[in-house]
Amino acid sequence: MSDNVLSSCRAFVFDAYGTLFDVGSAVSKLRDSVGDEADRLSTLWRQKQLEYTWLRSLMGDFADFWTVTGDALDYAMDQTGKKDPVLRAKLMETYLSLDTFPEVVETLNTLKAKGHKLAILSNGAKHMLISAAKSSGILSLFDQIICVDDLKTYKPHPDVYQLAADKLELQPAEISFQSSNGWDIAGAGHFGFRTAWINRTQQPKERLSHEADVILGGLDELLPLISEPQKA
Ligand code: LAC
Repeated sequence: MSDNVLSSCRAFVFDAYGTLFDVGSAVSKLRDSVGDEADRLSTLWRQKQLEYTWLRSLMGDFADFWTVTGDALDYAMDQTGKKDPVLRAKLMETYLSLDTFPEVVETLNTLKAKGHKLAILSNGAKHMLISAAKSSGILSLFDQIICVDDLKTYKPHPDVYQLAADKLELQPAEISFQSSNGWDIAGAGHFGFRTAWINRTQQPKERLSHEADVILGGLDELLPLISEPQKA
């Protein structure tokens, strides 16, 4: 085991969308039906989805992630000139069974087999997270699925990271948080989590107050950094 800031962590908490689940797979699965501008639609959909979570948090006007995801899709379809309620319904449906990134299932299984405590901390609505995790066969690997439904605000608000610390009954520094989203890593680091930025596509670093403790090219690169679970 290497001596690093993650090695003493007592729980491994994962962001969901973009980290475990490939949000691009929603449009890819229906690429033929979407036609021209599939990539632009996909990018806009995700961008608007995130913006709406942040804007609604700032406005104090919470709507759950299913609603926000639908609103973002409507915007993206308008912007790319697509008016097709059947396609809209199909795209929303794919969100309930997104693909995981290739290394995700095996990595989570390995961590679980070693006895680590695993959780999801996501802006996603609980029913969306359960459905996607079930469809990819990873639901039973998690000790907890922690979502913002009751809190009614979104990451990167510190209250969301606090919720995970409370639910896991751990100090922030005992939690290793994995996310592919640079803004989420900044929020989690600012709160006090140890952080691993899963930067699969070599994105530039965010210019926010906190940088990741470690930067990895995939979730599997976490495995050499940690060993047996710490005893209570
Ligand atoms: C998550 C997002 C928004 O919290 O990526 O899962």
